[in-house]
Amino acid sequence: MLSALRHAAQRRNFSSRSTVQGFNEAVGNTPLMYLKSLSEKTGAKIFGKAEFQNPGGSVKDRAALGLVRDAEGRGLITPGGTIVEGTAGNTGIGLAHVCRALGYKCVIYMPDTQSQEKIDLLRMLGADVHPVPAVAFENPKNYNHQARDFASSIDNALWTNQFDNTANAQAHYVSTGPEIWEQTQGRVDGFVCATGTGGTLAGAGKYLKEKSAGRTQIWLADPPGSVLTSYVTSGGKLVERSGSSITEGIGQGRITDNLATFVNELSGAFTVPDSKSIAMLYELLDSEGLYLGASSALNVVAAVELAQRLGPGSSVVTVLCDGAYRYQSRLFSKKWLTSKGLEDAIPPHLKKYTVLD
Ligand SMILES: Cc1ncc(COP(=O)(O)O)c(C=O)c1O
Repeated sequence: MLSALRHAAQRRNFSSRSTVQGFNEAVGNTPLMYLKSLSEKTGAKIFGKAEFQNPGGSVKDRAALGLVRDAEGRGLITPGGTIVEGTAGNTGIGLAHVCRALGYKCVIYMPDTQSQEKIDLLRMLGADVHPVPAVAFENPKNYNHQARDFASSIDNALWTNQFDNTANAQAHYVSTGPEIWEQTQGRVDGFVCATGTGGTLAGAGKYLKEKSAGRTQIWLADPPGSVLTSYVTSGGKLVERSGSSITEGIGQGRITDNLATFVNELSGAFTVPDSKSIAMLYELLDSEGLYLGASSALNVVAAVELAQRLGPGSSVVTVLCDGAYRYQSRLFSKKWLTSKGLEDAIPPHLKKYTVLD
């Protein structure tokens, strides 16, 4: 009897989830995590949407599934066909999983500057990977254009075009946004995240703003080297891209079609320096036990800043995009941090986590 009670009490500590049909049905429905230490520090409620819990390990599983399902619905691809994308990271990984689960071939074009781990992972997931010289977007040999050209050269193939295909933002409009609304029971004063394609921010942001009748403020957070903060704060002027960041998967030099669906509805934007993102990455590990990539850490810095703007008692949500596993040889290496001038950004009591040389 006692052990049954103990078991029931332990069981309540785990959320239960009904059975799902394989990989694709496991995408989404991620937990919304209350970040206790940062909430207590600010007097606000700060939440992170745990997108690293998607089955392919990142927020981009939603975009990958949404892009493929949309194309199927419009008859652009039929069973046995080939999905082609230009991507250096998480979207390719999401697509490779979705393609295996649905029986499509997957072809990925990526810049040859990317890590061997990513190339290996995509190949292990069954994708046909083409590392090509890293050249500017204007160059016809840019990896995105090569992906588009290859798809148009073979039958029953689809270039998913994650940056400018708005089925990406739509995937977040129908899943991420409603999940956040339900999980907060409609009590969300601010939502903020960084953008790569802009799908997450535009899709989830649009849903939350509409559902709250404009009450929820939607903010963009940018890494250094991106032009979006100046675009938003200048009322629409695009400047030349300059600078760089340690974050991966975020930052932009243009307004993608996905971002364009919502950019004029934003309440504001700000840039987060790498020094703050890396310090937060270590702090989240130490105080919350969360092992996250740098874009997630940047998002949490932004959530804290937005909570400070909105004041004590406010509720702010951001996105925990992926785990640190894909970047650990950099983020926890003394040599790499020093090469980026970031060793001193990590507070002394957190330096113990920099365990790699
Ligand atoms: C690690 C990581 N964080 C954030 C993003 C940005 O998401 P979105 O493309 O929806 O703007 C990406 C996109 O690839 C990513 O890989």
